[in-house]
Amino acid sequence: MEIWQIDPTRTSFNDDPRFLVALEHLRVGRLVAVPTETVYGLAADATNEDAVTGIFEAKERPRFNPLICHVENATAAERYGMLNGDARRLADAFWPGPLTLVVGKRADAAVCDLVTAGLETIALRVPAAPIMRALARSLERPLAAPSANRSGQVSPTSAEDVVAELGERVALIIDAGRCPVGIESTIVDVSGDTPMLLRPGGIATVELEAVLGRKLAFAKVSDEKPTAPGMLASHYAPRARVRLDAGTVATDEALLAFGPNLIEGAERALAIENLSKSGDLREAAQNLFGALRRLDHSGAASIAVMAIPDHGLGEAIGDRLARAAAPRSLV
Ligand code: TXA
Ligand code: MG
Repeated sequence: MEIWQIDPTRTSFNDDPRFLVALEHLRVGRLVAVPTETVYGLAADATNEDAVTGIFEAKERPRFNPLICHVENATAAERYGMLNGDARRLADAFWPGPLTLVVGKRADAAVCDLVTAGLETIALRVPAAPIMRALARSLERPLAAPSANRSGQVSPTSAEDVVAELGERVALIIDAGRCPVGIESTIVDVSGDTPMLLRPGGIATVELEAVLGRKLAFAKVSDEKPTAPGMLASHYAPRARVRLDAGTVATDEALLAFGPNLIEGAERALAIENLSKSGDLREAAQNLFGALRRLDHSGAASIAVMAIPDHGLGEAIGDRLARAAAPRSLV
């Protein structure tokens, strides 16, 4: 496995031999870890069945869990999915950016069935990260890319995290440093008449509702038959137990803190990570997965998590923490 370091703001890759190497890996069906503004993705050519199978194998991901297709722009998205009025409004407002739209799949969409898990819908995203868009543009194909972690684990927000999760299972890791959003894209199902929130993420629900001019419906979580299987109750699971809304820190616990005032017993925590000392939810989202990883490595048997406000990006943070805390038997 090779690592290629790039400047996250770089937009032009033409004729860069390293870029051509990355493209060649994708062309022949290999896996490349690609940074996005949200988390690192494990990318493969969405039209190549063997390549997509490789994603599921590398992640040890259940086959019923479909993948997001990353495309260059909204015009490219229209080649694979049917965007209705709501979809177009959201795409205009938030693409490129941390929003995934689930729309009706075009009958002639060339992506393989494994990508959509045989559904009639397809999840499309135009990421803000220039490298992912440049690869999709040059490949002239969508890039299927789940988060570059083993299934059920915490999503990677740095190239080091990808090495720890997948190592030699990828041909190349493109390293653009830490992901600026730090939490996965918001997923909205706009395939029907009522837009539904499938997963809170990098764009807050209120922002989406402002553009749609109405409230979003919330999809029900079901472990038997997941609609967006990232919605399985237990996900993002560290080894340590996770205890939410902690009022005190118990012996043998690590502390995931938020804001300027720590809770009682913080001084006996085995390790402390503060998501944002100033109480800023954007900063907290950016730090969330890295902090969870570090606290897990502290060896503490349990992680006490301070209460985090549930507005704005706090909604997505709370969602990920609830899954991290869910009983593991449900995986
Ligand atoms: O920020 C992100 O979205 C990252 C980066 C790499 O783009 N990707 C990501 O992918 O989080 P993943 O595979 O970890 O989560 C994709 C979610 C899954 O919960 C999957 O079930 C859902 O999208 N999904 C994909 N296609 C779907 C579809 N047609 N209908 C409903 N849910 C779908
Ligand atoms: Mg994931």
